[in-house]
Amino acid sequence: MVELLPSILSADFARLGEEVQAAERGGGTVIHVDVMDGHFVPNLTLGPPVVKSLRRVTHLPLDCHMMIENPDDFVEAFADAGANWMSVHYEACRHLHRTLELIAHHGMQPAVVINPATEVDLLIPILGMVHHVLVMSVNPGFGGQSFIPYSLNKIRRLKELRQELGLSYRIEVDGGVAHDTIALVVEAGAELLVAGSAVFSGGNPEQDARELLEAAQLAAERMESDSRIATGNQS
Ligand code: DX5
Ligand code: ZN
Repeated sequence: MVELLPSILSADFARLGEEVQAAERGGGTVIHVDVMDGHFVPNLTLGPPVVKSLRRVTHLPLDCHMMIENPDDFVEAFADAGANWMSVHYEACRHLHRTLELIAHHGMQPAVVINPATEVDLLIPILGMVHHVLVMSVNPGFGGQSFIPYSLNKIRRLKELRQELGLSYRIEVDGGVAHDTIALVVEAGAELLVAGSAVFSGGNPEQDARELLEAAQLAAERMESDSRIATGNQS
């Protein structure tokens, strides 16, 4: 099942509660929260107090994308603030296996993220530990950048590996997911679709979220019917 994850990075932070609720009415099912430290990425955003405030305005899972160095230092604080999913960068973790265990220990769904220049197969040893894998389809740090097409190969590879290894992680994509790219990422195999500027920059997050989700669902239905035809099962 495809899901839309509105990324609050492009929302109006002075009206964050209303923005999140509008994206939720438009069909967003998980709220994507970008945490940046000015070191791992060249931008600064937010910390546990904002997560705590978000927790009061929505019941949706909060998906914290940690673009920070030494994420272990903040796992407990984000869990206490109400985060539900936490993804850490392969490139930022010296002991990734330990960090994923720590996240699970604090009751959150652990996940790993890879930058555009990082190869999917490096994740094979830890794929059995994660709730999802996040493929960055832009270099992390800013909203509104262009989608990097090679990301589609990485999404396809993750889908293939999941089948080969008999695992059940979900595949998330983040960066440049908009009206012109959303069908492509779904066709490649992405299920958790993060969208920031495409939801919040047009002035009508409810409508933009709804239209994105509809485009994603149509692409998913097309794929399903194509695979039924390919396997000869038309029921
Ligand atoms: C970028 C963030 C994204 C960002 C995506 O580093 O991780 O979540 O909000 O923004 P768009 O959808 O505008 O590319
Ligand atoms: Zn993100």
